[in-house]
Amino acid sequence: MEPALLRVVLAGGTGHFGSRVARALLARPDVNLRLLVPPGTEESVLGDLADRGATVVEAELSDDGALDAALEGAHAVVSAVGASPMLLVAGQLHLLKAAQRQGVRRFIPSGYALNASALEDGEGASAEERLRVAETVARSGVGHTFVRVGSFMEVTLSPMAGLFDFHARRAYRWGSGEELFDVTSMEDAAHLLATVVDDPRAHNRRLEFSGDVVSFNGVVALYEEVTDKRLEVVDMGTLKELKARVLHGRDVGPPGLPRAAGPALLALLSGEARLHDAANSAYPQLTCVRVRDYLAHHFGANAPLEQASA
Ligand SMILES: NC(=O)c1ccc[n+]([C@@H]2O[C@H](COP(=O)([O-])OP(=O)(O)OC[C@H]3O[C@@H](n4cnc5c(N)ncnc54)[C@H](OP(=O)(O)O)[C@@H]3O)[C@@H](O)[C@H]2O)c1
Repeated sequence: MEPALLRVVLAGGTGHFGSRVARALLARPDVNLRLLVPPGTEESVLGDLADRGATVVEAELSDDGALDAALEGAHAVVSAVGASPMLLVAGQLHLLKAAQRQGVRRFIPSGYALNASALEDGEGASAEERLRVAETVARSGVGHTFVRVGSFMEVTLSPMAGLFDFHARRAYRWGSGEELFDVTSMEDAAHLLATVVDDPRAHNRRLEFSGDVVSFNGVVALYEEVTDKRLEVVDMGTLKELKARVLHGRDVGPPGLPRAAGPALLALLSGEARLHDAANSAYPQLTCVRVRDYLAHHFGANAPLEQASA
């Protein structure tokens, strides 16, 4: 007998993370995937997702009627919309209400990486806003899962986070460099989502999952080991100094790092964003890319030329 189809609606499925989630969901033969996209979305941004079997439905996240039509009959709604307040707060709350009206069984909100809500009050409106969304989801009566994966490896190990610039062979250390943080590749996080979307063990809970746990100094050592190249480490200051800079809205990083990167950097290094109850052992089929593998793949001797050459 054919397995019953699981109808999933994915918002934000054309994004950096969302497109990986879409592919991971489409790899499940029992999933019927609807991609919820803003009206007027060009075919080119969908990549090969339609060819792989996704149905595209257009709806503004503020259009209740269009959302109801898009979610009709859906078992689960997964959101991977970007982090702007307009999407993460207003958009997702509309989506949640539609899920409520349509009797959706599982709602997985966006906001996977960095538990910024763990920051103290006053360290950024987005932390409070994320918390508000989480509380509303938890009280909504719609089955839900909050997925937390630490920070995305692709971001933390790139100049975007303000710590490592491997192409410039430079790294920027705050504090002792021994502070531990959790990192997970977007690909692994996407497979986790596709696995837990109908997993009863993930129902109405916060699910933590960690691809690897590393420190700044540990990443430097791994890079030097897998590439046989030295990194110049620039000491930026203490964590207290980092916190003061973030609180006063000042630049925190190497030239060119957007000020907005400060709160995430602080959340990462202060330990506030650490995961404490990673559920990895419950999902032994999900083997994760470790930081060593990631660095070897992108910068090691066998890395593609354009990545390894710098
Ligand atoms: N600190 C970290 O490690 C880290 C880093 C990155 C992301 N994240 C988290 O990962 C999640 C996804 O981020 P991302 O970087 O993948 O975002 P992204 O690439 O900016 O993608 C955002 C998605 O939202 C869609 N979208 C935009 N406006 C919309 C609208 N009005 N209605 C419906 N959809 C709309 C976009 O569609 P279009 O393509 O049509 O614009 C796109 O599919 C967020 O929760 C973010 O907080 C965390």
